[in-house]
Amino acid sequence: MEIEAIGVVGAGTMGNGIAQVFAQAGFAVRLVDVATPTLDRARRTIERSLARLVEKGRLAAADRDATLGRLRTTTELDDLSGVDYVVEAIVEELAAKRALFTSLDALLGSEAILASNTSSISITALGAATRRPDRVLGMHFMNPVPVMMLVELIRGQATSDASVGVARGLCAALGKTGVEAADYPGFIANRVLMPMLNEAFYAVMEGVGTPEAIDAVMKGGLHHPMGPLALADFIGLDVCLAILTVMQEGFGDPKYRPCPLLRRMVAAGHLGRKSGRGFYTYEP
Ligand code: 3HC
Repeated sequence: MEIEAIGVVGAGTMGNGIAQVFAQAGFAVRLVDVATPTLDRARRTIERSLARLVEKGRLAAADRDATLGRLRTTTELDDLSGVDYVVEAIVEELAAKRALFTSLDALLGSEAILASNTSSISITALGAATRRPDRVLGMHFMNPVPVMMLVELIRGQATSDASVGVARGLCAALGKTGVEAADYPGFIANRVLMPMLNEAFYAVMEGVGTPEAIDAVMKGGLHHPMGPLALADFIGLDVCLAILTVMQEGFGDPKYRPCPLLRRMVAAGHLGRKSGRGFYTYEP
């Protein structure tokens, strides 16, 4: 299957990175979001990220311009009609994602493949919201998307080998490696990562250490590039809460229960970097 045009739905942290890497790899990208300010912010973020590569001599100015020329932003989902492959990166809520997949199924040609960047939600449930569950799969990028070389590929109950093959080919075109994970809550990355972050939240709540001390131990003592609390702020505390909730409900196992401090911080709107405040504070 020859893929030329890619749709990305949701222009937040992950969506703008996904749009950038596809446009850099030569695909015509249509980036959709309901909010114009989010689209404007996404374009600025992509421009900054590309400018950094030009400054470092890793991207020619002409390639930066060509990349930006391949990127179209829109608030109209209908503008995706005719694309071959869509990556959904909207809010981490099952009902919202299912509604979007049903709309995309009605809008797109029968050959088009629908991928979700979900961190933890069932790909099978998203496939079941369409008439093409064989052409629905998970394509879970890591943040920051332009830097992280790995993509988790998740097969729902009905996902075909052909769809996984197309996704693998796209990963290769992006210069990334696709690794398959089965469709269980949190897949591989968050199954292993979130319990560690949650434990770090409990450690703060119980006064085991300050955020600075906990992060210093994990960075200096275990060679993690970021401490768990800085990383949670980077991912978004609301996203961490949503993922842990999906894991707790999906497995019915109390070991995944989100830390009460995390719930309290999210209730306060302290969502991490994107809101300027989480375990740390950030310049706007
Ligand atoms: N866009 C483009 N390039 C970026 C970037 C961005 N947003 N952020 C950083 N970079 C580049 C920098 O330009 C730099 O490039 P260089 O080495 O060529 O100069 C390189 O990445 C390293 O950046 P910095 O020197 O600014 O800073 P660090 O060395 O601290 O690296 C980091 C930053 C890459 C974010 C590093 O701290 C890191 O790897 N952190 C862990 C990130 C992680 O674990 N991500 C996965 C999160 S889980 C997830 O996404 C799944 C979800 O479902 C929750």
